[in-house]
Amino acid sequence: MVPETTEMILGTRNHGKIAEFRSLFKGMQIKLLSFYDFPDVPPVVEDGKTFEENAAKKAKTIAKATGRIAVSDDSGLEVDFLNAVPGVYSARFAGERATDRENARKVLKMLDGVAWEERSARFVCVICAATPKGKTISAEGTCAGTISFEMRGSHGFGYDPILVPDGYQMTMAEMEPELKNSISHRADAMNKFRKVLKGFVQGQKK
Ligand code: IMP
Repeated sequence: MVPETTEMILGTRNHGKIAEFRSLFKGMQIKLLSFYDFPDVPPVVEDGKTFEENAAKKAKTIAKATGRIAVSDDSGLEVDFLNAVPGVYSARFAGERATDRENARKVLKMLDGVAWEERSARFVCVICAATPKGKTISAEGTCAGTISFEMRGSHGFGYDPILVPDGYQMTMAEMEPELKNSISHRADAMNKFRKVLKGFVQGQKK
């Protein structure tokens, strides 16, 4: 018997993320659709207090609007010295229209004079899938490291120029994309998510 293909919609307009998700779902009996197939899906306000809340809110809203399983993610940087800030405010830390460099510069300024040992931080990513009826599963991934004293590197995006992952001396932005993508919070979350997704999809077919 040929297994039935499940349609699934990705809750992101970011082409880099769409490509990452496509490779994640490779080999699974899933047809991936994107926002571009559903132009009428309403925008989702990311006002949750945690990455998990935001990812679930996006996935649930899109699943309800499209009648399909939806997958969304939310991610950001947590700095221990700043009590896990910028966290869910990572994208707009230095203001609604702030650039990546302005956000990173603000973190460096807030850590001015703070010793290396006290600059621990981590990238966090939560991936969530939701059904149109509101059932959800999620997986969290992290990439721990230390905030550098200055911006270094030109690869990647966001706070990559200021996070030195544990076990390395270069920042994420100094790494080749292949290396970053193999150790990142998103890769960690995706590996965990892949494991729970199969059962979730099978459960929907019953
Ligand atoms: P999003 O929820 O994945 O869109 O990420 C929100 C914000 O977190 C981004 O605007 C970045 O500032 C930061 N961020 C998320 N992932 C990364 C990453 O891989 N490197 C650096 N910054 C990131």
